[in-house]
Amino acid sequence: MPVEEVTASAAGTWTLGDRPVRRMGFGSMRLTVHPDRARAVRVLRRAVELGVNHIDTAAFYVSPGGPLGVGTGSPRYATELIREALAPYPDDLVITTKVGPSFDEASRHRELTPSELRREVEENLRRLGRDHLDVVNLRIVRKPGRDSVAARFAALAELRDAGLIRHLGLSNVRVDHLDEARDIAPVVCVQNAYALDVNRWADELLRVCGERGVAFVPFFAIAGARREAGTGDDHDEAVRAVARAHGATPQQIRLAWTLHQGPHVLAIPGTGDPAHLAQNVAAGAIRLTPEDLARLR
Ligand SMILES: NC(=O)c1ccc[n+]([C@@H]2O[C@H](COP(=O)([O-])OP(=O)(O)OC[C@H]3O[C@@H](n4cnc5c(N)ncnc54)[C@H](OP(=O)(O)O)[C@@H]3O)[C@@H](O)[C@H]2O)c1
Repeated sequence: MPVEEVTASAAGTWTLGDRPVRRMGFGSMRLTVHPDRARAVRVLRRAVELGVNHIDTAAFYVSPGGPLGVGTGSPRYATELIREALAPYPDDLVITTKVGPSFDEASRHRELTPSELRREVEENLRRLGRDHLDVVNLRIVRKPGRDSVAARFAALAELRDAGLIRHLGLSNVRVDHLDEARDIAPVVCVQNAYALDVNRWADELLRVCGERGVAFVPFFAIAGARREAGTGDDHDEAVRAVARAHGATPQQIRLAWTLHQGPHVLAIPGTGDPAHLAQNVAAGAIRLTPEDLARLR
């Protein structure tokens, strides 16, 4: 089937909290790179036309600056681009955002206080133009040994009780963090860096999430070890061979592999390129064989 005809339904659905979402979602961090706002708006509208109804964002996704450290010109916030493109928001759209330390050297490794977390939630509400947030992930910087998420997660649980947030999730965590948080309030998703060749220590976390009905939402599924630097041409030969067999690109095979890790695994590929968006959505229709999966590990 031609790429443009495949919709996000091909990837199937998962109930995130109380909302059904297509397992092929969209990550908005890359949208801010290109100086042309109209291009970003087109990509977002096309994503929704293609059936994407789970969009990941953060108030700190901004260029110039932000986690990608790129860009020139006046600030472009992903949350504001989402509002410009999609408000009034479709009823079935779930926007997941995250709060946590910002990206300047001074605060990068610092734990946010409850009032700082509240300020970030309020900034998301303001930039997205909403009176509540569908899902908020507490993003942490993992530390070796004992590092508790309890105080920060309890602060977000209070905002959930106050009606500012519908559902809570976690980002960059281990199983012990998930256990700790679930003693405080329900956790609907875990978002960690994970791909076929990166952070496979999290295989166990992915499995535990599945057992507990928690969505596992990997980021850098395409970029892998290159992380913020984005995708490259240095794909493993196994990925290339499976791509050739399916008439697909290596990036599509990395996404297809992600979706084959369990029904609770959601993809949030990031792109600012309309052609890449269509290819990513189409990757949800790729069915890998047991031999493909064994080859990819
Ligand atoms: N929780 C956290 O701490 C955290 C951290 C980082 C990211 N995230 C979220 O996760 C999302 C995904 O991460 P990501 O965007 O950094 O990385 P990604 O989805 O793994 O890969 C994005 C890279 O791949 C390229 N790309 C995308 N589709 C492609 C295709 N079909 N063919 C060729 N190249 C393609 C993009 O460039 P083009 O723009 O040129 O397509 C970019 O270089 C982010 O957008 C963000 O929402 C969360």
